[in-house]
Amino acid sequence: MTRRLSVAVLAAVALCGGVLFYVGYGFYDVGADMPHWEITRKVMETVRNRSIAVRASRIEPPDLQDEQLVLKGAGQYAAMCVNCHLAPEQANSEIRPGLYPQPPNLSEQRFDPKTVFWVTKHGLKMTGMPAWGLGHDDATIWSIVAFVTKLPGLSAEHYKDMVARAPPDEEMQSMDKKDGMKPGKDDKSGSGMQMPTEQKGEHKH
Ligand code: HEC
Repeated sequence: MTRRLSVAVLAAVALCGGVLFYVGYGFYDVGADMPHWEITRKVMETVRNRSIAVRASRIEPPDLQDEQLVLKGAGQYAAMCVNCHLAPEQANSEIRPGLYPQPPNLSEQRFDPKTVFWVTKHGLKMTGMPAWGLGHDDATIWSIVAFVTKLPGLSAEHYKDMVARAPPDEEMQSMDKKDGMKPGKDDKSGSGMQMPTEQKGEHKH
């Protein structure tokens, strides 16, 4: 019995040593261009799917058919999601091929509205999917969900038309006001979205 125990302890110590060696000498490649081992991918996917499913099941969605809600969501999607999740008939974007895991193409793939709400609000660790709930209220997130559930059936023209008819983004405007800046005048506060002039200098191809 004691002998078996000491073998087990030795094996555990050897395993810990091996892990420390592997990590300490930087053998693990964290590059996003180096795919996970199949087993790692499967484990992470199962953990992620179960975590989302349990949390999303407790959510009660509002009426998502309201046209104004869907239109508001169209504007939000075009401002915050399209670069990673694409629009109808858009083959790819500059950022998407380099993301690992790859964001699903939401103009083709359908997700349950509760899942979209939970994932949009809380984001997903170590994927690049942001937690939009940190800067947006639930009502705004539901507008995005309402739009995302309509998105897979839309043509490119219909998508553009909806984005063009979307109401102006009140949240971005109130963020500008909160910072005490007058919109348009020396405005560096809304740096997220409306800064084509600022980007010009920095973003060279
Ligand atoms: C910077 C890139 C990026 C942006 C911007 C982004 N996402 Fe994501 N999103 C991701 C990535 C990466 C994944 C894949 C994560 C994974 O497979 O684990 C993802 C996954 C998702 C999923 C799928 C969840 C699932 O169950 O598989 C939904 C739905 C989603 N995002 C919605 C949104 C919405 C809505 C927005 C805009 C408000 C948004 N995302 C903005 C990167 C992004």
